[in-house]
Amino acid sequence: MKIAIGCDHGGLGLKAAVSALLATLGHEVVNHGCDSPDSVDYPGFAQSVCEAVLAGRCARGILICGTGIGMSMAANRFKGIRAALCHELFTARMSREHNNANVLCLGARVIGPGLAEEMVRVWMTTEFAAGRHQRRIEMF
Ligand code: RB5
Repeated sequence: MKIAIGCDHGGLGLKAAVSALLATLGHEVVNHGCDSPDSVDYPGFAQSVCEAVLAGRCARGILICGTGIGMSMAANRFKGIRAALCHELFTARMSREHNNANVLCLGARVIGPGLAEEMVRVWMTTEFAAGRHQRRIEMF
């Protein structure tokens, strides 16, 4: 799968770990920055990743900032983006199964790389259950 990934300075280290994992799992990673530890504004990176997903250039996106909150707020401004901010495995799985999340937001200052990598594994492999959940996501 082709995955768009973006971060701000708070998510730079975790983005490297997640990108390496995705490549190991056989996915193609498209990096939307940032690429230095200098302080940057997260909304532009969220926009870049969301536009890649909405245009169909990438199947899904992953956005990482310090808490994941800013990225998720910015991403969910785009109609058609269902961005899920997750800090543990259950919501990472359910965001796919019930919400068909097409963007995963992570907080690099909240979770460690080990948990983040497990969450990405689960998020990448969990299928949308559709059925009644399809109706619900069509309501927004
Ligand atoms: C940057 O300091 C921090 O505010 C940002 O990474 C993110 O946590 C915002 O939601």
